[in-house]
This record gives sequence, C-alpha cells and structure tokens, in this order.
Amino acid sequence: MTNSILLKVENLCTYFRLRRPHWFSPVPIVYAVDGVSFEVPKGKTFGLVGESGCGKSTTALSVLRLEEPTSGSVKFDGVDLLSLDPEVMRRQRRRIQIIFQDPYSSLNPRSRAGDIIEAPLKVQNIGTSNEREERVAELLSHVGLRPEHRAAYPHQFSGGQRQRICIARALASGPDLIVCDEPVSALDVAIQAQILNLLLKLQREFGLTYLFISHDMAVVQHMCDEIAVMYLGKIVEQTDRISLFNNPMHPYSKALLSAVPAIDVEANQLAGRLKVAGDPPSPMNPPSGCRFHTRCPYAEARCRSEIPTLREIEPGHSVACHLAGG
Ligand SMILES: Nc1ncnc2c1ncn2[C@@H]1O[C@H](COP(=O)(O)OP(=O)(O)O)[C@@H](O)[C@H]1O
Ligand code: SF4
Ligand SMILES: [Mg+2]
Repeated sequence: MTNSILLKVENLCTYFRLRRPHWFSPVPIVYAVDGVSFEVPKGKTFGLVGESGCGKSTTALSVLRLEEPTSGSVKFDGVDLLSLDPEVMRRQRRRIQIIFQDPYSSLNPRSRAGDIIEAPLKVQNIGTSNEREERVAELLSHVGLRPEHRAAYPHQFSGGQRQRICIARALASGPDLIVCDEPVSALDVAIQAQILNLLLKLQREFGLTYLFISHDMAVVQHMCDEIAVMYLGKIVEQTDRISLFNNPMHPYSKALLSAVPAIDVEANQLAGRLKVAGDPPSPMNPPSGCRFHTRCPYAEARCRSEIPTLREIEPGHSVACHLAGG
C-alpha cells in the first residue's frame, strides 16, 4: 500500500565538490551518497547502518535538505521535497525533525531548557505564549524530565538528560518523522538503553516514524524494523531486522555482525565470524566494480570491473553482491 509510505527516497546522490589542490588539477568530488533508494512506512523505524564515513549523515541531511542533494528524489507524504521552494520547505520542516549525536553541541549553552524546547514553536508561530508554556511542561514530562528542569542550563544536565532535551525540542512541533542520527553514540552504554527505550515509548505514544542511523549493529537491532547496510555511499544489503541478523548475505554485513559478539551468538556463527581489516577506501576515489572488492575475502576478477546491483535474492531481502543467491 503506497499510501502508508511516509518517506520515499529514490536514487539519491549527494556529491561534494572540493577545492582543487592546484589550478591545473580536476575538481575532487566526494561521492558521499551515490544512488540510494529506500522507503519508510508510517509508524516504522528504518535503519541505516555502516562504518563512519559511509554516507549515513549525508543521507539524513539530504532528506531534510540541510545538504542539497545532487540528484534523485525525496518524497515525504507524497510531496517531492527537492522541488519545493525554500519557504514551503521550511514549513514542511515542522513535520520532519532531526536529533544529532552530540546533544551538547546542538544546544545553546546560554539558553534555559524550557526556552530551547519552546524555540521551534516560536519559530513556526505555533500557539500563544501560555499555550506554549503548557506544551513545554507536557514535553518535559513526555521525555522524563521534571518541571523544575525548565529553568536549568544545558551544562547543568547529564549527557542523557541533554539528549532528552533534544528529543523534547524535536517533538515540540508535533512531527511525523524524526531522523535520529547516531542519537546514543556519544552516551555511556548504561544510558544508551534508557534513551533508546524512551524513543520506542514515544514512537508508540505518538505514532512516530523514525529514520534511524547508527554505526552500531546492536543498536539498530534494538530499534529498527527494516535495515539498510551502507558501504561507501551505497546500500549493499536491505531487509527486515530478523532476516539481516539471522541470515546476513553480503560479506560486508557479515563482517559488521562478526564485530558484535555479545548480542547474537547465533548470528555470529552463521556469519562465520568474518573480519574485515583496515579502513574503508575514500569515497573521493571509490574502487571500481564492487566498492567492497578491496576488502572482500570472496572477491573474484569480475568484482573489480562489474558493479553489482541491489537484487532481491529472497522476498524482501536485497543484496548487492555478484555471489549472493548463487
Ligand atoms: N560538507 C562536506 N564536504 C566534503 N565532504 C564531506 C562533507 N560532509 C561529509 N563529507 C564526506 O562524505 C563522506 C560521508 O560522510 P558522512 O555522511 O558524514 O558519513 P557517516 O555519517 O556515515 O559517518 C565522508 O567521506 C565525509 O568525509
Ligand atoms: S561482489 Fe565480489 S567483492 Fe563485492 S561483496 Fe560480492 S564477492 Fe565481495
Ligand atoms: Mg554520521
């Protein structure tokens, strides 16, 4: 049912043109996001997972047009966001919010928590001053903060509490979609579960849809219904949570799962505890053919020249690898 799809991203490309090192050299281009497509149904959580630098944040920012995509389309509730003029886009932002990794740097240190949470309501001209005050009280309680927290400054809170303030601010304008970009990566492990569970509770209460980004397989397993694994700007595998963790098919996904021994022993056994050494190559000069061939233990000659397309190998399970399903 297409009408239950809230966000539809098609063939999204976001390239960065860098400064030339010399006047005679070509303009270096970073292929940060290179032909990414996915759909997020209403009320569900769609995960993007992959190592640092694979293009997760650029995808998130491109969806909100905080980074202008080079090409492709982003449809939100049927509206093509990339074709909207900036003023109309600004109004759409009320319905799409983002939470970042580092709650400290995304909060103004000189503003009180209550003002920070109220700010998006003011910007969007929502409610009277009294109504906004009531709304802030409500939001504080939704995210597990106390009424007296309203008057405190960001430095008076713990990391987890600061992320609660960011979540309250994101909820303020009543969004449908929240993009969560590594929302717990900067927090102590003990606090991570509290924030993840808060996000799950809020999703149930308000019917929220999440685009959820993490480099951490255990975190996406906890949060996501459907997961796309990214490598150097491309999706290499996409399926539902159960299939990904029980039956990872792309060598890169297997390697990511091998790196998290504690969460799911069975998945690791299935994955054969594959290890991938070293750092990913630069998206400025991605490898030819399959971008993973420089690190893949199964690489064959054709992998260096033929680009594998994302193919449905089993119903609802797509993989971009020449050897998948063979
Ligand atoms: N504004 C920018 N200008 C140039 N390169 C960028 C910019 N933002 C990100 N990149 C590059 O794009 C690639 C993807 O980055 P990013 O989307 O932040 O990855 P991730 O969130 O998965 O760690 C990286 O190589 C990064 O250095
Ligand atoms: S296409 Fe080749 S290099 Fe790429 S993941 Fe599959 S086997 Fe490895
Ligand atoms: Mg990032």
